[in-house]
Amino acid sequence: ALVSMTEMLKKAKAGHYAVGQFNINNLEWTQAILQAAQEENSPVILGVSEGAAKYMGGFNTVVMMTKGLMEDMKITVPVAIHLDHGSSFDSCKAAIDAGFTSVMIDGSHHPIDDNIKTTQQVVEYAHPKGVSVEAEVGTVGGEEDGVIGGIQYADAHECERMVNEAHIDALAAALGSVHGPYDGEPNLGFAEMKEISELTGAPLVLHGGSGIPENQIKKAIELGHAKINVNTECQQVWTAAVREFLANDSKQYDPRKVIGPGKAAIVKVVKEKMQEFGSNGQA
Ligand code: G3H
Ligand code: ZN
Repeated sequence: ALVSMTEMLKKAKAGHYAVGQFNINNLEWTQAILQAAQEENSPVILGVSEGAAKYMGGFNTVVMMTKGLMEDMKITVPVAIHLDHGSSFDSCKAAIDAGFTSVMIDGSHHPIDDNIKTTQQVVEYAHPKGVSVEAEVGTVGGEEDGVIGGIQYADAHECERMVNEAHIDALAAALGSVHGPYDGEPNLGFAEMKEISELTGAPLVLHGGSGIPENQIKKAIELGHAKINVNTECQQVWTAAVREFLANDSKQYDPRKVIGPGKAAIVKVVKEKMQEFGSNGQA
């Protein structure tokens, strides 16, 4: 069923596991993630960046495609369609109006008072419609879809203000994670994570989930993370599988055959992540 993140994340936090957000790029990507979720009996969050939504045609296309697939594939597990790194109130509003069940308003590059104010506006629009809202404090490193940032650790009191003043459903407290591949081992601020989790009580969101070793993922879940975002790893396995297929077959020109191995590779990675995050069997 198409739902917001609210119940999923409450259940996950209470059950000490995390729900994966996997970013989609097209039809096959969406099929792969929905298939993995259904096979693992896991709740799932489809992450849609503004760039990816535009690439696919727009917010309406994303919603209608997902609804169509859920019906045709007989998907029964909880699925949220979530705007990833929404850049403004208007962008969040447009996604909600098109039928997104969840949005992230990323005001992390603005001063905290502005960030809270914009987030409040989004919450006021979203909550009466049953749509959940994620906000970000501190900044995630690396680059995603043109959103570039240096690492800035979230301040615990700013996090507390964000949760208490904006009534968000999930908090992305940036604590050293990076979008894209890590240069060596990630250096996550576990002490700050504990403090922020205790202070806010909010389900925390880990951005830059690709390339984080399993022991650190487990620790982040223990310390209050209920949502983990993965994008880069799906992109890497898709591209590697398609590259390998093409390198080994110079004659095939049926696009469905060419990109088929890419889809299978995503299904495999997403299922592994669901098991690692402990969301399998929780639908
Ligand atoms: O918002 C999306 C994520 O934070 C993805 O990060 O590409 O490093 O997995 P990643
Ligand atoms: Zn992110």
